Amino acid sequence: MRTIEWIDGHIDVVDQTALPQQRRVALHAASDVVEAIRRMVVRGAPALGAMGALGVALAAARSAELGYDPDAVRTDARRIAEARPTAAHLRWAVQQVLPVLPRGPEAVLAAAQAVVDADVRACATLSRLGAALLRSYVGDRPMVLHTHCNAGAMACVEWGTALGVVRALHADALIKMVMVGETRPLLQGSRITAVELAGLGVPHQVVVDSAGPSLIASGEIDAVIVGADRIAANYDVVNKVGTYPLALAAARAGIPFVVAAPSATIDLDTPTGAAVPIEYRDPDEVLLVGGWRMAPAESGALNPAFDVTPADLVTAIVTEARVIEPHARPDGQVNVAHAVTVPAMRRSGSLDVRAI
Ligand code: MRU
Repeated sequence: MRTIEWIDGHIDVVDQTALPQQRRVALHAASDVVEAIRRMVVRGAPALGAMGALGVALAAARSAELGYDPDAVRTDARRIAEARPTAAHLRWAVQQVLPVLPRGPEAVLAAAQAVVDADVRACATLSRLGAALLRSYVGDRPMVLHTHCNAGAMACVEWGTALGVVRALHADALIKMVMVGETRPLLQGSRITAVELAGLGVPHQVVVDSAGPSLIASGEIDAVIVGADRIAANYDVVNKVGTYPLALAAARAGIPFVVAAPSATIDLDTPTGAAVPIEYRDPDEVLLVGGWRMAPAESGALNPAFDVTPADLVTAIVTEARVIEPHARPDGQVNVAHAVTVPAMRRSGSLDVRAI
């Protein structure tokens, strides 16, 4: 079943704040959509795109009940697009459906469904492409991957991006272990990624975020695979806070750092990662654990939700359309950080994109 669906005139979604408990909620108005995005009932870049598109369709459907007013829908669309600032998908998906507003609610819904269906197809394709890429880097043997946050079906509509790649590798018995960063403060790794991997029967272990870099340094990890919330035109990657240290460690260890994301994640209007608005969330997400305060009453907290991994630390970005190796060397070998040249990073197999 899809994590986000249009059912009988409303949006039906998995409530990701409740996970690992399974609960679905119904959204009936644009204000419900804005609230669900802000509270992270729905989260993850492609899922936010699906919500954005269907949210505009919902606004159009409600408006039609009172005498259809495209301008009122446009106002709702703007509020939805601004509900979270960092992921490129939310704004992008809203923009995809806005041009059909004058044609009425049914046309808006059809355009929104097309955005959702395209995302499902993109995730399935990039997952196969990413699996082939990792095989070409690591070799045809069961591998140990490290991931962060949740880039699985919950973060999308079906299948997932980084976890879609894991799923495709698992289908070929090529996953030995997935290390899952728990992803403080909201624990998307342990609450969502681990649940998805358990459901798929993929061997995995949850680790505290601060263990990631040293695990990579230990030589036990074959590659890091993550999703992305936005990729700038220069291929800087914005993803869940805690991604950047993993990329630094991967470069130092000479293992691939691979980003799996639909091409809509690449925002050509954002020149570099420095131009991406990083969301700062409520300090209480850091200070309180399970409702208990973990720091003195006098202590404040800073809660950036994302960080920027510079393009020079990115081995490859896999979209449904292509593999981008920002710093591939002219001799066809793959590098990681510009300063690092490690035999382990030499591609051990061939990647034929046309065969995927
Ligand atoms: O704050 P979140 O949980 O919405 O952040 C999500 C992430 O950072 C994911 O890693 C990213 O969206 C990739 S999802 C396919």
